[in-house]
Amino acid sequence: MRNFPGFSGPGFSGPGHSVEAGPVPAAVGIETLTIRQAQLPDVAAMLSLINGHASRSVMLPRTELEICESLRDFLVAVQDGELLGCGALHFYTQHMAELRSLAVAREHTRSGLGHKLATELLEQARKYGVDVVFLFTYVPGFFEKLDFQAVDRDALPLKAWKDCQRCPMFNACDETAMAYMVTPGADVYMSAAPPDEPAAEGPLSLPILATPRILDRIQDKD
Ligand SMILES: CC(C)(COP(=O)(O)OP(=O)(O)OC[C@H]1O[C@@H](n2cnc3c(N)ncnc32)[C@H](O)[C@@H]1OP(=O)(O)O)[C@@H](O)C(=O)NCCC(=O)NCCS
Repeated sequence: MRNFPGFSGPGFSGPGHSVEAGPVPAAVGIETLTIRQAQLPDVAAMLSLINGHASRSVMLPRTELEICESLRDFLVAVQDGELLGCGALHFYTQHMAELRSLAVAREHTRSGLGHKLATELLEQARKYGVDVVFLFTYVPGFFEKLDFQAVDRDALPLKAWKDCQRCPMFNACDETAMAYMVTPGADVYMSAAPPDEPAAEGPLSLPILATPRILDRIQDKD
């Protein structure tokens, strides 16, 4: 059982909420924090949170269209009507999903909320039958604490690279690819094989790699 400093309470003792579950209340002092599926009225705050971090080049920016198209991928953490965090689980193949757009409001980082949101998304992955959850990140240390391991990016689904086509770092990709095995031996599902169907956007090309950029807690407080 894990404690979440600042977010301790009955709703935060560990994963286990159903995919359809409603709000998960937790005591935060005298206030209440809820982790729930995102809704359209959350979009403006999600854009502000994600693109605020993206403006510091620590994660990919998202457009209103992208957020709305994938809204059902997202969980949000809300306290007293204020959106404190969000994160998404996006399916790619019958076996693999990406954890993406995980973000916590800067004034609420280091309180356990990022870990809790990621844990909830991994629990959703398990409930949906996902075998491997992968991601690209500048904070591998954070995800190592969730049992993600660095992997060869060529082992990730080609479809995953479609986000890269519009990334400002396409010509010098410095993110670390990581994966979490939901089921034992799931690495057999990791393959460089191209998707059966061509991408609607046209052929994909892979980004040019650079030395991984790793943001630790000191840089994140800039
Ligand atoms: C990365 C992020 C989601 C972490 O959320 P958070 O709420 O600050 O993290 P938590 O408090 O849950 O931290 C959980 C653990 O990870 C550690 N950790 C947090 N950020 C870390 C980092 N950048 N590097 C290494 N370890 C980190 C914490 O110290 C804590 O360790 P502990 O359990 O031993 O105390 C948040 O800092 C953020 O939104 N960053 C900007 C956006 C971003 O980089 N998102 C990731 C996209 S893949």
